[in-house]
Amino acid sequence: MIMSRTEAALDQARGDLTERLLAGLPAEAVLTDPDITASYANDMASFCPAGAPAVVVLPRTAEEVQHVMRTATELRVPVVPQGARTGLSGGANASEGCIVLSLTKMDRILEINPVDRIAVVEPGVINATLSRAVGELGLYYPPDPSSWEMCTIGGNIGTASGGLCCVKYGVTAEYVLGLDVVLADGRLMTTGRRTAKGVAGYDLTRLFVGSEGSLGIVVRAVLALKPQPPRQLVLAAEFATAAAACDAVCRIMEGGHVPSLLELMDRTTVKAVNDIANMGLPETTEALLLAAFDTPDPTADLAAVGALCEAAGATQVVPADDAAESELLLQARRLSLTALEAVRGVTMIDDVCVPRSRLADLIEGVERIADKHQLTIGVVAHAGDGNTHPTVCFDATDADESRRARESFDEIMALGLELGGTITGEHGVGVLKKEWLAREIGPVGVEMQRGIKQVFDPLGILNPGKLF
Ligand code: LAC
Ligand code: ZN
Repeated sequence: MIMSRTEAALDQARGDLTERLLAGLPAEAVLTDPDITASYANDMASFCPAGAPAVVVLPRTAEEVQHVMRTATELRVPVVPQGARTGLSGGANASEGCIVLSLTKMDRILEINPVDRIAVVEPGVINATLSRAVGELGLYYPPDPSSWEMCTIGGNIGTASGGLCCVKYGVTAEYVLGLDVVLADGRLMTTGRRTAKGVAGYDLTRLFVGSEGSLGIVVRAVLALKPQPPRQLVLAAEFATAAAACDAVCRIMEGGHVPSLLELMDRTTVKAVNDIANMGLPETTEALLLAAFDTPDPTADLAAVGALCEAAGATQVVPADDAAESELLLQARRLSLTALEAVRGVTMIDDVCVPRSRLADLIEGVERIADKHQLTIGVVAHAGDGNTHPTVCFDATDADESRRARESFDEIMALGLELGGTITGEHGVGVLKKEWLAREIGPVGVEMQRGIKQVFDPLGILNPGKLF
């Protein structure tokens, strides 16, 4: 095969890069086969461009990560950190010629301390693995994204992930106490604390949460734990309109209740779940609300919330009989996005979060947008947080339908901002919402954020092309 001069130069550069990486990493941790490296190009978002990685590295220690970053700095090569690539905004997509830095092999739980109520973990630990490990000691790590069986703690920190429990327990940011971070030039920095309190200097820990791999590489995290609550019981309430379900959400929150989850699935979502999993959810209702309590007397709490649902016009209120039935309802909810994907083959998943008092306006607006563009948009929502996932279903082989899908996706973000909300409650900005970040935070906000980026990554090699 005859190479062009540019191709030969690129090949040479890739060879140099690989050689330098191999000076500090074992051979099995450096992948260069293009068929394999290509499989690391994308996360789970649609419509996000990705380049071909030059190399994928799988370090096992902080020192190896430092070697990767020193090499990247010397050779001016972009680095894209990755966890399990379950992200939904293209934040982990490779850029052309980059080093993909996969943290999945750094997957040790280093410590679980029941007195200090902390866990110390490496970034590649799977969320569910940590949850189960701390559960065995009577402890609880709440953040529970739907992808919890696959996603990593490092990825959760990168996107400040939420989940179903956030209405009571808050998001990932609330649980990250301290970090070890490898900086762009390979230096190691420790932020934060392992104590219950601490206000020493700027809160760099919080700055890293949600920074989407653009400021440094998290190689160790100190996480706060809670005592394990009693198992939650779930109630399902059916409504004849989505507005009535939103009214119930307002009544529940206004009434001072603290459910451990409060989720909404619209008719399209319920049907999609039944279609793929035959779960027997009621399809004749417009909206299904799931509320749960993990209190000492969940039955009494569910009865009070059930009465509020009825007052808001629920057509049926069905408390689960036991933990197993509750778990089944939650499984149905967790399947929602996968199920909606089956409707037209591909989805774009919005993540707008509005003040919960505006939830009904958001859902009504999404219906208008779906009608206007003649598309199916299923809505599944962390209703108690006002965090909605209007999910645009489309056929990616149909150019016009794809265009309408993208327009709807954008119009939903515009609506979210109009209602006093944010473009992203938990999935992050990535590539997908770059222009929208600028709209949300404004030019001064962007300037300040760019300034922070400049301090941590003066050469612009860390996850370039993401956020702004
Ligand atoms: C969920 C993910 C998509 O709520 O955020 O299922
Ligand atoms: Zn979600």
